[in-house]
Amino acid sequence: SQVLSQTNFVNEDELMYPFQERGLQFGDGIYEVIRVYQGKYYLMNEHVDRLFRSAEAVKLTLPFTKEKLFQLLDNLLKVNQVKGDAKVYLQATRGSALRDHVFPDVEANFYAYVQELPRPIEKLTNGVAAITQPDVRWQNCYIKSLNLLPNVLAKQEAKERGAFEAILHRDETVTECSSSNVYIVKDGKIHTHPETNNILHGCVRSRVKVLARQLDISIIEKAFSIDDLQQADEVFLSSSTAEVMPIVEINGNKVHSGEPGPVTKKLQKAYEEDAG
Ligand code: PDD
Repeated sequence: SQVLSQTNFVNEDELMYPFQERGLQFGDGIYEVIRVYQGKYYLMNEHVDRLFRSAEAVKLTLPFTKEKLFQLLDNLLKVNQVKGDAKVYLQATRGSALRDHVFPDVEANFYAYVQELPRPIEKLTNGVAAITQPDVRWQNCYIKSLNLLPNVLAKQEAKERGAFEAILHRDETVTECSSSNVYIVKDGKIHTHPETNNILHGCVRSRVKVLARQLDISIIEKAFSIDDLQQADEVFLSSSTAEVMPIVEINGNKVHSGEPGPVTKKLQKAYEEDAG
């Protein structure tokens, strides 16, 4: 398939990266994952805005304007004749230079590719299991940075314990998951961590807020505890790849009845209509 390298399209096996590269040396870069449904981007503006916010936060100059990036991403789907469900991964690093912590005086590296990705229907229907893990990440989790080692380790721990996701907590406070945002439902109201520096400001999360309001379901952006998590009527997560996904088991214990709950199901339906 054709991938974007800087602002040009090349065949994927022609894209070579130098071994002296900031992304490899330091994880010195940022990324996005954008969902594509039936050949069309979903929440594209939100992802592009967040990429530029991440870039600004780490003082990285992207090699294009927002307008140019929209055009390039549209062409990425066109040249690959994408008609179905997919995801686009894009990353920008601070460039190629001999290893030195100080910023080099070179242009940022950028690539983007598209990969087919069917909707996770079975998991959306039946729900998934999660574990809890301490959130050992840094204080700037709102930046979508390539430094994902704590996230990778938490997700691997989940996998090894037969779970789909790791729900992270700083002391008693639940923040988010290793690669998604997390919510509980108590007495018909949704609770989720506020948009502080301690979580990624998920694009699906902002959409969930709008959808909940349209459905007349209150959504309270206030931190909740591990205890609240364990007492919840429903728990769900959200991300561009996982959509609105019910969590039906935590650390081997059923969430409520162990079935996806009514509020989660309503949101799933609204999401499907919105994305469809
Ligand atoms: N992850 N929190 C974290 C830590 C994430 O990595 C992600 C996304 C989210 C959800 O964000 P959004 O709704 O914008 O997808 C929350 C992507 C999918 C990934 O790393 O693969």
